[in-house]
Amino acid sequence: MKRVLTYGTFDILHWGHVHLLKRARELGDHLTVGLSTDEFNKLKGKEAYTNYDHRKLVLESIRYVDRVIPERNWEQKISDVLEYDIDIFVMGDDWEGKFDFLKDYCQVIYLPRTLGVSTTKIKHDLSSSNG
Ligand code: CTP
Repeated sequence: MKRVLTYGTFDILHWGHVHLLKRARELGDHLTVGLSTDEFNKLKGKEAYTNYDHRKLVLESIRYVDRVIPERNWEQKISDVLEYDIDIFVMGDDWEGKFDFLKDYCQVIYLPRTLGVSTTKIKHDLSSSNG
């Protein structure tokens, strides 16, 4: 059983997220998503449109996602990898190199982002089309 772990905010879920989750799940047999809490988003200077419980509900309904856990801070990754017996850590390549310290604990893979879509772009496009 190969266990995969990824993290993110996954606000206003879009096809770039689904591509990432599908490819992450296909690297193993079980995918855990560390979902940024509303408090952690604030710390990162991000404000999600959708609250944590609703983002979790949406993520849990994606067929590639086996488990959602809260991401509360920057420091929890090593302990999550150990606690959940993770074999592969995956992030989009906007994070290339940032989590290489996890290579002491598991495999680390950065997947190419899907071009042309992001939550920020969706929010921006919708707000400009409304005037
Ligand atoms: N991701 C991706 N392709 C995209 C957008 C996101 O592969 N077009 C990946 C990210 O690299 C990350 C995960 O999806 O591994 C969650 O990203 P998140 O930051 O929640 O999504 P974004 O759309 O990038 O959100 P924002 O614009 O708020 O930064």
